[in-house]
Amino acid sequence: MFDVQKIRKDFPILQREVNGKPLIYFDNAATSQTPLQVIDVIVDYYSNYNANIHRGVHSLSQEATDAYEDARLKIQTHFNAKHSHEIIFTSGTTHGINLVANGFSSLLKKGDEIMVSALEHHSNIVPWQMLCERTGATLKVIPMNQNGELILSEYDELLNENTKLVFVNHISNALGTINPIEYIIKEAHKVGAAVLVDGAQSCPHIKPDVQALDVDFYVCSAHKMCGPTGVGMLYGKEEWLNTLPPYQGGGEMIAEVSFEKTTYAGLPHKFEAGTPNICGGIAFGAALDYMNTIGFENIATYEHELLDYGTAELLKIEGLKIYGTAKNKTSVISFNVGSIHPYDIGTILDKMGIAVRTGHHCAQPIMDFYKIPGTIRASFMFYNTKAEIDAFITALKKAIMMLS
Ligand code: ALA
Repeated sequence: MFDVQKIRKDFPILQREVNGKPLIYFDNAATSQTPLQVIDVIVDYYSNYNANIHRGVHSLSQEATDAYEDARLKIQTHFNAKHSHEIIFTSGTTHGINLVANGFSSLLKKGDEIMVSALEHHSNIVPWQMLCERTGATLKVIPMNQNGELILSEYDELLNENTKLVFVNHISNALGTINPIEYIIKEAHKVGAAVLVDGAQSCPHIKPDVQALDVDFYVCSAHKMCGPTGVGMLYGKEEWLNTLPPYQGGGEMIAEVSFEKTTYAGLPHKFEAGTPNICGGIAFGAALDYMNTIGFENIATYEHELLDYGTAELLKIEGLKIYGTAKNKTSVISFNVGSIHPYDIGTILDKMGIAVRTGHHCAQPIMDFYKIPGTIRASFMFYNTKAEIDAFITALKKAIMMLS
């Protein structure tokens, strides 16, 4: 049974006040909150078995190594990767994307095309622009419509035998659109292009099956899904990870080093130079355990109720416009009210204990498309409630009155 009041007790931060008011945390698309089940794992690691991994003969090092590798297995199972060595620990989604973009530097040439969508976060645009600068490849853009949905007929037109890579987010951080990645992957493969999916916003809401999707690369961050910041994962098909050169050189990623020649370790270590975020990796595994205990079907059903309720209530406010009205979307609502600047509303909401994000959400091309400087974004997780949405609407109405 999904019991939101019971779930809320797992999150100590949800019990605090901000500016003298109970915290209402609607900035989950920026980062999610952390349950005790994950906090306890972090405390236990530093209290009892903090040590470097893969290096020591001593017991502490072995315990830490076992816990870290156990987390890798949990991630493999969660995403249904074929092999555990297809899971690379990263510092987060941005790191994973840069690792792949860097790897393609030696594989692309002038005349090659790579394709991004109009709905991307800057982290899934800029590394590819840098790749184009290094290789002479050309960047193409899959356009979007007014609802914030990708125009698939245009995608079909853009695909050709020169297309080498397509990178698209599973869910837009700015609008909440769920992209039809199954179709995008299938069509890209027909012309021999590889596909990278940015799962930063999908993994808190959906459980992706990388083998069923047949995706080449999938990246995400633990902190969006009840884990800590500074850790994430890159899934890559074994053959791709074997093809790409290492991203960073250092300890742990080598087989043998001499001044004449260095040979590299096999997967996954080839891409994991240096001491990783050991505690973060272990806590990432605990976050997956926690979310799986609640169940992704329960999460999706409940969050959809919040999305529908929040959307209906917001649309009752005169002059309020929602950006991102895709048929298939998750619990993110981006909006503006008349000509009031989003920052002003966000600041007043904060005074009333309500956390939302305002601005361009690291997705300036989307804001340019709508010809706006930014939006107010309320993003819900499974621990939010309809009562919080009611309090948010009341506070929003007050803010609008003050600013009108
Ligand atoms: N990418 C994060 C967001 O959408 C930070 O807020």
